[in-house]
Amino acid sequence: MRNGQPFPDTDGNPIHAHGGWMLDYDGYVYWYGEDRRENWYVSVYRSPADDMKHWEFRGHILTTDTLYEETSARFDPRLSWEKDGAVRKVNIERPKVLYNAKTKKFVLWAHYENGENYLEARACVASSDWPDRGFVYHGSFNPFGEMSRDCTVHVDSRGDAYFVSASRDNADLHIYRLTEDYLNVDEWVKSVYCHEFREAPALFEKDGRTFMISSYCTGWAPNQGKWCSADSVTGRWGLLRNFGDKTTFVSQSAFVRRQRDRYWYVGDRWMGGGPKYFESTYVVLEIQFDGEGNPFIEYTDEPELFNG
Ligand code: DGJ
Repeated sequence: MRNGQPFPDTDGNPIHAHGGWMLDYDGYVYWYGEDRRENWYVSVYRSPADDMKHWEFRGHILTTDTLYEETSARFDPRLSWEKDGAVRKVNIERPKVLYNAKTKKFVLWAHYENGENYLEARACVASSDWPDRGFVYHGSFNPFGEMSRDCTVHVDSRGDAYFVSASRDNADLHIYRLTEDYLNVDEWVKSVYCHEFREAPALFEKDGRTFMISSYCTGWAPNQGKWCSADSVTGRWGLLRNFGDKTTFVSQSAFVRRQRDRYWYVGDRWMGGGPKYFESTYVVLEIQFDGEGNPFIEYTDEPELFNG
């Protein structure tokens, strides 16, 4: 795999897992992400956990045809709508999947928009008994009435799960703890980085610190990434500091992958939101840590993570 070049799956097709996420389950790593082709929304690939070079396409877990199953009476069940007799797709962005050990369910969280504009700014939820099939959709909503755009999830070392998303027209980031079953937000824990317009949050923990990488808010155009840290997700977050170069090496954060004791930044090199979107690729770089434990990245063409 080369950064910024199409990354083929085991059938030779480019991997469409944009704005993605990886989940470890039963000896495999599942790679989820956006696939906007056809009537699809979310694709999933998998690789044996010690491989990471060969990604087998497993299917589309969310499409316009995904069945609805009510968990909360007033979530909006629609995954498509009609205009002038034609089916219109909604937008599902930045899908993330967690495994809930209590309910034995795989729970998907993502950003929902109606497909016409970005004004509804909602979170949406789906779940399944399997990591790569059988998902039912539970609808979209505004957490505690708030706008919710670019998002991620994070399970902390205490086992609590969080949903983090851009709110107030992307001005602030909100941190919500999830309910025990992960199917709703339980508490709006706090708002951070007021009026900093951070997007594309990606969290990880290392040596007792919780880190967040994020981008600034410039649509599909890359900008200077930043990192920040806190002693816990719910604790006091520190200053935003530069991560990578002025364009984060022409990428925007999607998620951080921990592979054994190494940490990898996985970003999207978007090709805009129009037809070129489908040529979007990935930028994967090892996160290194300086003497104070602060993260940084340097550019390399061929990340070891995907090249062995
Ligand atoms: C930036 C976000 O990070 C992307 O996921 C997408 O929502 C674009 N904005 C849309 O302009």
